[in-house]
Amino acid sequence: MKKILITGALGQIGTDLTVYMREIYGDENVIPSSRTIPDDHFLLKKGPVEKVDVLSRAALERVVKEYSITHIIHLAAILSAKGEENPQMAWDINMNGLLNVLEVARENDLAVLTPSSIAVFGPDTPKEETPQDTIMRPTTIYGISKVSGELLADYYYERFGVDTRGIRFPGLISSEAKPGGGTTDYAVHIFYEALKNKHYKSFIDKGTYMDMMYMPDALRAIVELLEADPEKLIHRNAFNITAMSFDPEELADEIKKHIPEFTLAYDVNPGVQKIAESWPNSLDDSEARKQWGWKPEYGIESMVSDMIEKLKKKGV
Ligand code: SER
Repeated sequence: MKKILITGALGQIGTDLTVYMREIYGDENVIPSSRTIPDDHFLLKKGPVEKVDVLSRAALERVVKEYSITHIIHLAAILSAKGEENPQMAWDINMNGLLNVLEVARENDLAVLTPSSIAVFGPDTPKEETPQDTIMRPTTIYGISKVSGELLADYYYERFGVDTRGIRFPGLISSEAKPGGGTTDYAVHIFYEALKNKHYKSFIDKGTYMDMMYMPDALRAIVELLEADPEKLIHRNAFNITAMSFDPEELADEIKKHIPEFTLAYDVNPGVQKIAESWPNSLDDSEARKQWGWKPEYGIESMVSDMIEKLKKKGV
């Protein structure tokens, strides 16, 4: 039986992933962890949440031993826009956190799955249908740490036989925990503002296309890659996957179908816009499809109607 430790579990992915994985693997077999834990966090109702700062190898080691962990889903990281505010800190957390996870995995014979990102690509990368293997010269500290992380994770697999796997996530859209500090976050904020104020000012400019995915697809991808037959994996760190690609206008048009009064304006943040422009417009995810059967379920239409329904139910 798998015993899974999730780092950074109170973030946008981890909050939903903990609930999803506890349903599959059992409440007692999924251990979410975070650097800080609010006393009243809803995840505490179903089981323990461990206090782990990924910069402390000893803290990771303690939880791994205490729960006889077999797999780590390593989510703790600083995202792209936030990373630019303090590049040294982003490098420290993203790289040394990953190194600690890989070292604990090597010493205790654990498997590791960690997300990478579309941020591994840069201005020299082919923009349309960006291939799995292509030029990767990112210009953000986040992207640089993610490429380095992919290489490091592959190195631990080749050199030490640690079962490492990764996914290059596009922007993730979800109704539970809000994203923090990402370039693609506008695609989540827009829903809250559309419901509350019928108006949104986008920090990303019109005509800026980025890959996106609805959280249920992202959660399924994590579990499917975790369970994938290792014999079939030619790549490991990390797989391109995508579900849709749109710009703010297309997303707003789709939202208007549900909230006709909604209007979109722009207040472009030049620094974040520059990051968005350095990333692909659309990804080719055929290798993930071939090697482990990846297939998205949600497109823009079904994602928007589900998001609005979920947020309304939450009272937004
Ligand atoms: N959503 C992330 C970001 O915008 C990309 O991995 O930083």
